[in-house]
Amino acid sequence: MAASRQAVWGDGHTASICSGKETLMNSNGFRPGVAPGTGRTRPGAQSGAMSGGVEAQGILDSRLLPDSEFLKLWDSIIVDQQLKDRLLSQAILSFTLRPTVDKAAIPLHGVILLVGEPGTGKTSLARGLAARTAEVFGKNSNFTYLEVEPHALASAALGKSQRAVTELLGTTIAEPALRGPLVVLLDEVETLAADRSKLSLEANPIDVHRATDAVLAQLDQLAARYPRLLFVATSNFPRAIDAAFVSRADLVLNIGMPNAQACTQILTDAVQALAKHYTGAGKILSDSRFRTAAELCVGLDGRRIRKIVPAACTFDKETALDPNRLTAELLLRAVQHEKGVSAGIQEETR
Ligand SMILES: Nc1ncnc2c1ncn2[C@@H]1O[C@H](COP(=O)(O)OP(=O)(O)OP(=O)(O)O)[C@@H](O)[C@H]1O
Ligand SMILES: [Mg+2]
Repeated sequence: MAASRQAVWGDGHTASICSGKETLMNSNGFRPGVAPGTGRTRPGAQSGAMSGGVEAQGILDSRLLPDSEFLKLWDSIIVDQQLKDRLLSQAILSFTLRPTVDKAAIPLHGVILLVGEPGTGKTSLARGLAARTAEVFGKNSNFTYLEVEPHALASAALGKSQRAVTELLGTTIAEPALRGPLVVLLDEVETLAADRSKLSLEANPIDVHRATDAVLAQLDQLAARYPRLLFVATSNFPRAIDAAFVSRADLVLNIGMPNAQACTQILTDAVQALAKHYTGAGKILSDSRFRTAAELCVGLDGRRIRKIVPAACTFDKETALDPNRLTAELLLRAVQHEKGVSAGIQEETR
């Protein structure tokens, strides 16, 4: 006979878990995190890092959502609005469709994969997405966020990785997934789900192979058991991710480098952030050389563009001491320097 357990919500309400399948007592389909007839959050809820109360090997952060820091991240990333809308809709859909539709006909795994060059905002978008999704479902939707530390599991050399993966996905993540809606960030997922077809026979491939197998098996189990669990994975190296993992993703989005308009917005945002504390720096936004500097940023990633503003303060000590003195000329010089450096790196790696 199937084993039956009870998951207890913060307010004492229980949900039945039968044979590992959670049955929400809500005939209307699912309303994430809101125990039927209630709207309360867990008692003692705080906010910010580690407010989610999950501390375990392989977990970098856990927090209650929506989280104000993460909501700011969502707004701070300047990408095509359609891409952002699609990403958010996919996350919402995951929580509305998965508890209701026939899994055999519509196989949704609750996995979104963001790929792209370093510094294009993938991790920020993933964290922001978790918070925005929770916000859409309402303040009392009881969403939790977990962030996995992939390197803690990549101990293939010690022969532990398969066990660590099973422990992390099968236990550490499954437990909070029983309690309410959960968004899990799998940053740098290629370390966790390495492409088995590319493993070199010299580099202890058996363990890595088994670890990838374990990730896939656990994902299938989790997808079947927890319709209120969403993984958001990121990677700089999509070709290093196992094809079977990519195939399980419900949506794969390529986050590209910022275009000219986005470059201007990112640079403006960074100058404004400086000008909040050093108002004198704000004047460069109306200087014609600012536009030239912004246009020159095309080809740089968002992280490098933001770093140009502090870098521009390093050409003379007086500006470093008093960033109010920052000029558009220094900013232009910093962009030219950055472009020169990145062209040099590209040349070397060719
Ligand atoms: N499109 C963008 N708009 C605004 N800021 C951006 C953008 N892309 C990156 N940034 C900024 O760059 C920094 C790095 O972002 P993030 O860590 O999210 O990038 P990433 O793609 O995950 O990088 P990596 O692949 O190296 O992990 C953040 O400060 C972020 O605000
Ligand atoms: Mg990242």
